[in-house]
Amino acid sequence: MTDRSAEIRRAIGRDWEETGYYDDAESDAWMEPFWHPRSPFLAMFQQLELSRTIELACGRGRHAARILDQAGELTLVDYAASNIEICQRRFAGRSHLRFIVNRGHDLPGCPDASYTAVYCYDAMVHFELLDVIAYLAEIRRVLRPGGRALLHVSNNMQNPGGFYQSNTHWRNFGSLDVVRHVADRFGLQSLEHKLLDWCGVPQLDGLILLERR
Ligand SMILES: C[S@@+](CC[C@H](N)C(=O)[O-])C[C@H]1O[C@@H](n2cnc3c(N)ncnc32)[C@H](O)[C@@H]1O
Repeated sequence: MTDRSAEIRRAIGRDWEETGYYDDAESDAWMEPFWHPRSPFLAMFQQLELSRTIELACGRGRHAARILDQAGELTLVDYAASNIEICQRRFAGRSHLRFIVNRGHDLPGCPDASYTAVYCYDAMVHFELLDVIAYLAEIRRVLRPGGRALLHVSNNMQNPGGFYQSNTHWRNFGSLDVVRHVADRFGLQSLEHKLLDWCGVPQLDGLILLERR
């Protein structure tokens, strides 16, 4: 990790603490890409085994609320303490949930080789590439052999070295193929991957289902 990347991570983190995003995020229109019956997200999500699951960058819990009753233990991880506090209040009394504030590139408190699934939606698309790579290593560490990760990533190769806010839909510099490559080297096999159009922009994002070998 570099000082510059860490500084940019902190700036990105601040952008997602208090924002109007959360007012719209739970509307049908914004949930639909992930949970519509014909959504590629749902088709891959249904290939996860949810007995011990991590949601990375959970925000204020809109996806967790959706899957809560299907999951065994569900661990919600986010860089923003404020979002984790909101999730703690939202899901108070649900004893199968755990809550973790992380350092923006790690899965602290998540034991090695223990989880059946990790998923991350609408968040890694904004992260620094070095953090995406660090998360791939962490995901490899925490998954059981045969455990799977479903990751929504940026496929924006414009503006290398730039700041994500200058890019379409604030997609950070990233590439589905780079994620596939790095994941392979960490021992995560791609079972399926797909380029996605986002808000009418062709192939802006990628979706990848990985399995720990
Ligand atoms: C656009 S919101 C999406 C939240 C949630 N995934 C959803 O779909 O509603 C981005 C989330 O990523 C979190 N975040 C930002 N940088 C992060 C990082 N480096 N590591 C983990 N979470 C981060 C923010 O706090 C926020 O919760």
